[in-house]
Amino acid sequence: MANRIAILGANGQLGSDLVRTLSGSDVTAFTRSDFDITDSVRSRAAILQVRPQVLINTTAYHRVDDCESQPETAYGVNVLAVLNLVRLANEVGATFVHFSTDYVFDGSATQPYTEASAPMPLSVYGNSKLAGEYIVRSTARRHILIRTCGLYGVAGSRGKGGNFVETMLSKARSGERIRVISDQIVTPTYTADLAQQVAVMLESEVSGLFHATNEGCCSWYQFASAIFEITGIQADLSETTSDLYKTPAIRPHYSVLENARLKERGLNRMRPWRDALSSYLQEKKSRG
Ligand SMILES: NC(=O)c1ccc[n+]([C@@H]2O[C@H](COP(=O)([O-])OP(=O)(O)OC[C@H]3O[C@@H](n4cnc5c(N)ncnc54)[C@H](OP(=O)(O)O)[C@@H]3O)[C@@H](O)[C@H]2O)c1
Repeated sequence: MANRIAILGANGQLGSDLVRTLSGSDVTAFTRSDFDITDSVRSRAAILQVRPQVLINTTAYHRVDDCESQPETAYGVNVLAVLNLVRLANEVGATFVHFSTDYVFDGSATQPYTEASAPMPLSVYGNSKLAGEYIVRSTARRHILIRTCGLYGVAGSRGKGGNFVETMLSKARSGERIRVISDQIVTPTYTADLAQQVAVMLESEVSGLFHATNEGCCSWYQFASAIFEITGIQADLSETTSDLYKTPAIRPHYSVLENARLKERGLNRMRPWRDALSSYLQEKKSRG
């Protein structure tokens, strides 16, 4: 595996798990306090100084509802800054590793989307991430582009202020009535598992577009139920539907991804989502 790796968004939930997982390599961890990726001058200075062999970008503007009213910010971070990063990766000869989303699909499918399925985003966020994908695929000399879904990790999403699991647990502890949507089917994915999967992909020197989520699928309501079942916490949980819980951005009703290309290559290391959730809860408990 390439030895010199730079990780952007290194204090995010996926970024921090990548830093930990790839710690056997010479990793430079960049956060927003080092440079904002929309600042092309500072980005260039930092990356040319390190000259990584692999440049991993976990940054994104992914407050999905806010993207609807702030398309300039969404496109600035998820598209234009990505173009600049791809060019820098090309300049130093680095493999560019980038993450995209299940929200590039419209959710009209009845079986999992593969890498060959046609995207049709419903939201500004999904559109901006798809535009970022096209830039990576058309401009990066060497790239690994990974679509994933429903991330949660021990660091918690900085962009979204926590993660779904912790939100559910804190609502239950405060005795709040919890209503969760049952008509959006996803695959919650543990960032520690995704980080391990990325390490396997770097090791085997694959390139191109890959889906990588934990295995299986559930509604957000079923995910919440599993959190309370595994922890044994009593919660006042009931289901609702997206018709009753309106949000500015339209989300797909079904956005399950099949890790088809990883499986074809014998590289899929993603376990069932419920096993991953148990490990996450265990890890959180052991950290206190
Ligand atoms: N979260 C999900 O459910 C999900 C689902 C599918 C795909 N994805 C994709 O997976 C990737 C990782 O997501 P995540 O959940 O790990 O995100 P996260 O925890 O919010 O981490 C993102 C990191 O990027 C940094 N960042 C954001 N904008 C930046 C900028 N302009 N300049 C420099 N740093 C910036 C953030 O810093 P600050 O904390 O300072 O903002 C944060 O450290 C993203 O590409 C996302 O689109 C996420």
